[in-house]
Amino acid sequence: MRSLIDIVDLSVEEITELIDTANDIIANPEKYCEKCRHKKLATLFFEPSTRTRLSFEAAMLELGGNVIGFSAANNSSAAKGESVSDTVRTVGCYADIIAMRHPKEGAPMIASMRSPVPIINAGDGGHNHPTQTLADLLTIQREKGRFDHLTVGLCGDLKFGRTVHSLIHALSRYEGVHFVMISPEELRVPEYMIQEMQKNGISYEETRSLEEVMPQLDILYMTRVQRERFFNEADYIRLKDSYILTLDKLETAKKDLCVMHPLPRVNEISVAVDDDPRACYFKQVSNGKYIRMALILKLLEVE
Ligand code: NCD
Repeated sequence: MRSLIDIVDLSVEEITELIDTANDIIANPEKYCEKCRHKKLATLFFEPSTRTRLSFEAAMLELGGNVIGFSAANNSSAAKGESVSDTVRTVGCYADIIAMRHPKEGAPMIASMRSPVPIINAGDGGHNHPTQTLADLLTIQREKGRFDHLTVGLCGDLKFGRTVHSLIHALSRYEGVHFVMISPEELRVPEYMIQEMQKNGISYEETRSLEEVMPQLDILYMTRVQRERFFNEADYIRLKDSYILTLDKLETAKKDLCVMHPLPRVNEISVAVDDDPRACYFKQVSNGKYIRMALILKLLEVE
């Protein structure tokens, strides 16, 4: 039995297989609509979510399965002091697979050690978010046709932004990828990740200025400043509008730039950018459902 806690739990070959399956589901949805008949997915969300939870639920429904779960910690026995281990041992008696989001880094990993069914990490604190990365990878594959030899700009809250951490880990495994990390000093990528990148010889640069690096980017991954992970509101207010992508700023960008964002957006991308053909963030939303369908099939070992 396998869980997905970190994106590198999947090999590069397995990621290619998942992408192939997702593309096949997009092309032939009817082939898949009974694959998970009589199977149940539980979504255990101890933190707010729109896309991740609903895309998991839509994914299971489109596979012909059913869903149970809760969407806030105060709707569960966590509010009475139950441990995540006991919660998943219980839910594992009702469901065949569990998607879990938790504010504490490492909670899904702990859960996977006690769970009788596969656990999918749907976001753990400021740490990782592997299924958003799968959605991002499917989007990059469909837009760019490759993962190698790309210059990838990551902009905004690179410290607390878990989607960025998982995306760096995933793309670091392909040849010729160069990361351009654009953030305020206080929101730089965590030191442990910088050390990992240096140790593994990953090509990167850090900058404060989005404008300066715009012309070289193939992908621009914007992120929200993660208010809920700040220790004080004053710091959040000072940093929240550090980067706002507008049509003006896109003037120097490549014609085939791919603008991405895991969403929700607050202020980081002006609404006017949505109509630019380079805006890919709503494609990411749609791709997220298909790649989660592929992942559920894989972890449930459905043919
Ligand atoms: C992200 C998350 O939860 O980390 N959202 C998502 O799952 N698409 C990004 C965010 O909340 O800023």
